[in-house]
Amino acid sequence: MSSESGLGDGGPFRVGLLGHGTVGGAFHELLDARAEAIEAEVGRRPQVAGVLTRSRGDFDDILERSDLVVELIGGTDPAREYVLRSMAAGRHVVTANKQLLSQHGEELFDAARGHGVQLRFEAAVAGVVPAIRVMNETLAAAYIDRVHGIVNGTTNFILSEMARTGETYAEALRQAQELGYAEADPTEDVTGKDAAAKMAILARLAFNAPVHLDQVSYEGIERVTVDDIEYARELGLSLKLIGTAERIGRGIAVHVHPAFLYSGHPLATVDGAFNAVTIESPAITEITLSGPGAGGPQTASAVLGDVISAMIPPPSLPPPAVEQQIVTDVEFSFYLHLEVADRPGVLAQVAEILGLQGVSIRSVVQKGLGQEARLVMVMHPVLESKFRAAVELISRLEFVRETPRVIRVIEETF
Ligand SMILES: NC(=O)c1ccc[n+]([C@@H]2O[C@H](COP(=O)([O-])OP(=O)(O)OC[C@H]3O[C@@H](n4cnc5c(N)ncnc54)[C@H](OP(=O)(O)O)[C@@H]3O)[C@@H](O)[C@H]2O)c1
Repeated sequence: MSSESGLGDGGPFRVGLLGHGTVGGAFHELLDARAEAIEAEVGRRPQVAGVLTRSRGDFDDILERSDLVVELIGGTDPAREYVLRSMAAGRHVVTANKQLLSQHGEELFDAARGHGVQLRFEAAVAGVVPAIRVMNETLAAAYIDRVHGIVNGTTNFILSEMARTGETYAEALRQAQELGYAEADPTEDVTGKDAAAKMAILARLAFNAPVHLDQVSYEGIERVTVDDIEYARELGLSLKLIGTAERIGRGIAVHVHPAFLYSGHPLATVDGAFNAVTIESPAITEITLSGPGAGGPQTASAVLGDVISAMIPPPSLPPPAVEQQIVTDVEFSFYLHLEVADRPGVLAQVAEILGLQGVSIRSVVQKGLGQEARLVMVMHPVLESKFRAAVELISRLEFVRETPRVIRVIEETF
């Protein structure tokens, strides 16, 4: 880094912010909120030195006052020029711009190399899912055969809704727009072009070969019908818009299209606006990463992670520990299995004891087994100490035949 950039000085770490829309605005807020914690961890406080939008800020002035530039404008022009000029001036760059990288990646990587600066782009593929970091760092030495991805949240949401509710494509798209998962103009998403750009970037990293967006064949979801999805469900299949980058013979193929998956596939259960990337390599078998694929705060979090990585060499040790209270009595939802005598009043007595300890029953299944009966219940979340106290009392009831069995239930669904 050039000394004029100010890197290495003890003062604030100045971030020039290009774009202040969905992601840029969320990034600005997140950076302000986390600045103190970042300073405590890495020794310098990041601060936004200037903001460029169509109506405010001057690029040259912001560049002059920045140690690092974050590009969140989108599109190729003028983003490409700003990124190149930032790197030529010795500034590290962080971007979330898949269109730019999938069309001008090699030029930008060469420029970063030539100027000795970092170009980080975790947020350009699959939002906050750390696919880029894992491929660049964790799997740096792995020979990758294939990458499959659900890398567009809008289309995954539409297909999931069609499967869940039986809605048509048009109805599910309208709902995605109402909920903010799809833009007013959803063309790039539903035609598969957005996913194609992301797969070009993943292919570049997986195979270390230049892959341009134009070399990715893609097909969207506009022609998918409710019938396709319903028949597939009867066959145990789910429909996803899948991006694939794979080695074929001595070459590589990169494509995006709707595809049916059998239920055992790691991507089959990725629903709603979630994204996921599966990386296959003989050495590691397979890794699947999943999480929110878009959204201002989520994407901003990946952008800020890149900024911190550019501020300091990535830490190999965790930051110094700070003492915290260790909580031992935790709320859980519990499954309780009781073998009891089959006679009237048993369930009422069990329920009463649970109620007195503040444990509320969510669901009960009762099954007669001749003289005996089986009571299986799931509770609403309750402190473990209260639940254990209730179970202790229940186990002493004369009609309880065996030691009660208790298993925790994780209630969240994603
Ligand atoms: N939204 C997401 O969930 C998401 C997820 C992953 C990656 N991304 C990527 O993140 C980037 C930003 O997306 P976004 O959703 O935040 O876009 P956005 O809401 O449309 O915001 C774009 C910002 O860039 C500014 N801008 C546009 N053209 C400009 C120009 N010629 N000169 C200066 N400023 C200009 C706009 O200025 P005005 O305010 O004046 O209009 C606006 O502040 C894109 O590369 C996108 O692909 C977005």
